[in-house]
Order: sequence, then structure tokens, then C-alpha cells
Amino acid sequence: FGYCSFLVEKDRKYVCDVLCNGLARLEYRGYDSAGIGIDGDTPTSPLVMFKTVGKVASLRKDIAEATATPSPAEANTAEPHKVDMKKVFLSQTSMAHTRWATHGVPSNTNCHPHVSNALTEFSLVHNGIITNYKELKLVLLKRGYTFHTDTDTEAVAVLCKYVWDSQPHKRLNFTELIKTVIKELEGSFAFVFKSTHFPDEIVAARRGSPLLIGVKTDRKLKVDFVDVELPTNEERVDGVEAGGLLAVPNSVADGHGAAGPKLRRSQSRAFLSEDGMPQPIEFFVASDASAVIEHTKRVLYLEDDDIAHIAEGELHIHRLRRDDTVSSVRAIEHLEIELAEIMKGQYDHFMQKEIYEQPESVVNTMRGRVNFDTRQVLLGGLKAYLPVIRRGRRLLFVACGTSYHSCIAVRGVFEELTDIPVAVELASDFLDRRTPVFRDDVAIFVSQSGETADTILAMRYCLERGALCLGVVNTVGSTLSRETHAGIHINAGPEIGVASTKAYTSQYVALVMMAVQLSDDSILKTARRQQIIDGLHDIPAQIRKVLAMDKALQEMAKSMLAKEKSLLIMGRGYQYATCLEGALKIKEVSYMHSEGILAGELKHGPLALVDEHLPVIFIMTRDSLYPKVQSALAQVTARKGRPIIICNEDDETVSDAAKCIRVPQTVDCLQGLINVIPLQLLSYHLAVMNGVDVDFPRNLAKSVTTE
Ligand code: G6P
Repeated sequence: FGYCSFLVEKDRKYVCDVLCNGLARLEYRGYDSAGIGIDGDTPTSPLVMFKTVGKVASLRKDIAEATATPSPAEANTAEPHKVDMKKVFLSQTSMAHTRWATHGVPSNTNCHPHVSNALTEFSLVHNGIITNYKELKLVLLKRGYTFHTDTDTEAVAVLCKYVWDSQPHKRLNFTELIKTVIKELEGSFAFVFKSTHFPDEIVAARRGSPLLIGVKTDRKLKVDFVDVELPTNEERVDGVEAGGLLAVPNSVADGHGAAGPKLRRSQSRAFLSEDGMPQPIEFFVASDASAVIEHTKRVLYLEDDDIAHIAEGELHIHRLRRDDTVSSVRAIEHLEIELAEIMKGQYDHFMQKEIYEQPESVVNTMRGRVNFDTRQVLLGGLKAYLPVIRRGRRLLFVACGTSYHSCIAVRGVFEELTDIPVAVELASDFLDRRTPVFRDDVAIFVSQSGETADTILAMRYCLERGALCLGVVNTVGSTLSRETHAGIHINAGPEIGVASTKAYTSQYVALVMMAVQLSDDSILKTARRQQIIDGLHDIPAQIRKVLAMDKALQEMAKSMLAKEKSLLIMGRGYQYATCLEGALKIKEVSYMHSEGILAGELKHGPLALVDEHLPVIFIMTRDSLYPKVQSALAQVTARKGRPIIICNEDDETVSDAAKCIRVPQTVDCLQGLINVIPLQLLSYHLAVMNGVDVDFPRNLAKSVTTE
């Protein structure tokens, strides 16, 4: 998160609040440590930093405590001196970061911002992984630079300093310098850079990790887009040979800390509109729109290899290299989400809120797309591509985690309605195998965030091989939604809880709608399509009915599961996905070992686990496989297993009420939408009972933007 304000001093905000609020909204991406960096009290003063291991709430507390104490040296400044904190807290440029450790344990030292040296000549926050940091570090160590952390990010800060030191006349401007640095980097990144050589300026850049800029001003913007400034000479930047670290002249002796010409703090023309009035403007750089929504709804999404420079109230975007395949216009878009949608409201946790939102979120997925009178589905985003999809040789679903389970859930209905072979792949494994992909494949990438690194890499792999690439995503403007040829936004609204709930049911509904639409050229399948559409109509009310059983489920979690070490969830056919998803929910948030098992595989191994201690949840709602699940149940009870049965409301063959979860019946291929709800609720209650921080389970992140 980065903040840049061009407001007169009396209107400026207390930056710690702006930064911590922004971070709190991004916390779902990682939460093992948090830090902020703010301009010092004079243009050349080092960055003032606060860092905390733990969550943003602890960071807020630490800042409050540190600033309440009389000694400003309490502030984690690289160079403690009598800092005028009042001035610092009204600074113009600042940045913040919440971390999910990839290199180096969570600690204050490894927490961002990272700096080039004690004077913090260059500082940055980073989301992503620099894969060649070891090589960079080696080169820089040889040249006399020192490192203090275990992170990959620090290498970038030091590299900035090296490039700065290496240029003979200190003529590089901030953008050029960062361009030179970025050319050396491999891996993925979203950065915010600051420098004491360029006070009141920020440079932000991305490759592989998402980044956007929120723009807030009361005035009418001169333009509502930014024309990217394409480099005229892509190989050279002023004063430094770019494109090879070793080509940079080795003139460290030029002076660590040697400062170039200082820019004055901006009071400049860009502040003024034509009538000479100050033009107050603020910029918010963030990994996700949810962090800027409380300030502004006008955002501009950066593309890979964009370098954004904010200075003197102006925003300029440059490209790392000329690439005619990328548009040179970045439009300022208007966000549709409301702040209320990303607040917890009456609920204790986001996960609970999101479970309860499902009757509405599935309606939002269908809104304007399903006509229940004419029993037709129209997904506008796919319309133009329907003939190509129908001619496809294979439907290739690629996703991770919960999104993968939604693909498993709909595999059968796609096979049945489209008669096209279907493959469902975990993105990481798909890439590991370098799976053959062909021009007539239709690849469908399913992702809540649209930013999962493995899924994005798999998409690019398929794009390169000429497949038609479709995205099924929740986050408008995300990388997947922008880079696929077409797709469906699932419109579930922002999902904050790390454990995905409403995104799963909305993905499921969106994919079923897609299967239905694909088959609407087949008269033979009309009756089945209509049955499914009628089923979709009743789903929201049926979900509501299951949610009303929450108290009983809480009781069941307490009496039958809370003390157990392990749990199996068993089913088959359409319900296999429900088993996988239920088990994932339980392990993610309650830390209880749990496995989803295909009932058909029971006798090939899992049966050995069954004894009088092991709870087994059976998903035994009525469909064509009902008798087979019944026989699996018999095998488990014969071995003194302890089944809990999810069955339909009127199922009289299941008698023991205490061990039963009775749910409404719907069409077989939609039943998973109903059956997953009690499992979500059970996992939620188990998590609360086990004292887990439900929305932020240990070691996990909502959006995994690294491989
Ligand atoms: C992470 C989250 C999961 C999510 C998965 C895929 O592992 O913790 O809840 O299912 O990423 O995320 P995506 O945004 O691609 O659906």
C-alpha cells in the first residue's frame, strides 16, 4: 500500500491511519508481520519506520505506544534523531506492507519496508518473489554492499543504491533508476519505492503481482486516462547502460550516501489548476481495490512492466520496454463495490458473514443472466465465443484450492450437457507436467481473486499455445479477468475470509450456467436444462433453510467433533467435490485433520482407518448413486465407525436423528450447493471452539500471488 497526498498542510491526513486502514483491508493476503515507512521530517531525513510481528492491530498499538512516549527515538528510525513526529505524521508520501513470509522467518528485521542502507536512500515494499535475488546479492556483496535481512526484497533496495552510486553524474531521475533496477529482476513483484533523493515522489511497478492506483480529487480530472509513455530508446537510459548489471560502471567509491541534486518539496505548478487555485489530489497505490475504496472509487489498474511515477500531483506511467501488444492507455475505472460490502457488520467474522451471504450472493451470480420464465441462460461475456467453445476438442478446467473443487463439482454436468471431454487440473500440477495443450482446447481458469500465481502462469502457458482462454473470477479488474479472452464474473462480492465460502457456491452456479448455455443448441437436452434452471431458482431459499439449522450444527460440532483429531468426509459422484471442499474447510480453519474420500475408494485403503473413534461424515443425499453410498455406510458401521449423515429431509431410511443433518433436496448436479453449507458451518464452529483466528488461519493467505 502506498499513499501520496498533494494537499495543503492543514488538510493533510494523519498518515498512520491511512496506512493502517489500507493494510487492514489487505491483511487477508498475508498477516505474519506488518510495517510502515513515512517520509522523515526534512526532505533528506531517513524514512521513519514502524514494524511489528503479527497483525495490523498490533502495529497500530505499537505506533500509538511509541508516539505516546516522549522519546522519538522509540520510532524505529534507521538513524534515531530528534524527529519532529507531528510533521512526519502529516507527510506527503508513505508506504505500508503486510507480509506473508516466503524468504526469511516473520521477524521485525524481515518485515517491510526494506531499505538500501542506514540513511534509507532507497526504500520499498514488495509483494511477490525475486527469484534471482541470490545472484544479485552475490554481485552486490562483492562490490562492498551489506545486507541485514534474509529477504529477497532487500536485494532490490540495495540494487537501487548500487545503480544510483554507479552513475557518474547522478542524472537519472527516479523512474529511469527504477527502470534500470527492474530490468535486472526475475520473478514476480508489485513494488512501491521511495527515495530520499526524490522526496515526495513515489514509483510503483508491477510484474506478475497485482497493483492499482486510486485517484482522489474533488476537481474534475483533466483526463480520465493516462497515456503510457513508451520509451523512445528501449536499451539505454540516461547515464547508465541498462539490461545487464555487470554493465553498470563500478563506481561505488563515488560514495555510499552521496546525494545527487535534491528536488525541492513540491509546491510546483502541478499543484495549481488553470485558475491558479491549488489542485488537491491524493493517490493510493494498492494490491487490491478493497484498500482504496474508502477513499475513492476511481482506480487505474497497472499492467505487467508498467512503471508509475507520482510526483508534483501528477501521475505518469512508463513502460519497461516497447511492447506493441499492450495498450498504451490506462483508463481510470469506476469501482462498483461499496465500503459496506467489505465490512463485517453484525457478524463476528468475515467467514461467518460470507457463509450467511450465500442466499444473496448466488442470486447476484444469476442476476440478469438466468430467465426463469423462458428458462434460458445468457452469459453475455461468453456469447460471442459459444461456437468456438462448442467446437473445442476438450474443456480444460484449471484452478487451485476451493476454486479447483468448484471445477470438480461441475465436471459431470459439463460432460453430460456438452458431450465434450473434460479435464480438471490443479494449476501447479498442470504446469509441473507441462501438459500438452492445443489450439482447439478451451481452457477455463477459475479463481476467486483472479490473482493466484499458479493459475495465472497456467493461463499464460495456455495462451502461448493458442488455446481459447476463459476466466471465471470474482475480482473485476484482476489479472485473470484482464488477460483471458473472455469469461464470467461471478459477482459474489468481495470475499475477505481466507477460507473461501460464498465464492465456491457462486463459482459453482456460474459454471453450471455456462454448461447450460453451451448446451442450448441441443434439443435433446432441453428437459434436463429446464430441470436445472428450475433447480437454480430454488437454491437461494434452500440455502437459507440450511442456514437456519446453524444452532443445531454448532451443538453437533461441540458434542461430536470438537475433541476429535481426525475426520473423514465421504461421498461419490456429484458429492465428491463436496467431500473435498468440506474437508479443506475443516483443516483450513479448525486445524483438525480431515480428508475428503470418494466412497468408491473406501475399500481400497481408507477403510483401514475406521474404528470406533473415527467420525465419518457421509454425504448421502438422493441421486443415482444413493444405493452405493448406503453400502459404503454399511461397511463403516459394520466396523464400529461413527457416521454423521447428511441426507435429504424426508429420507426415512436414515433414522438416528442425533447423527443426521437433513437438507432440502434439489436436482442432483446442484445438490452440492446445499450440502456444502452444513460443512462450512461445522468448520466455522470448530474453528471458533478451537480458538482459531477464523479469518486469518495460521500460515495461509487469501490470495497466493507467489508460485
Ligand atoms: C488460497 C486460499 C484458498 C483459495 C485458493 C485459490 O489457497 O486460501 O481459499 O481457494 O488460494 O484462490 P483463488 O483466488 O484462485 O480462487
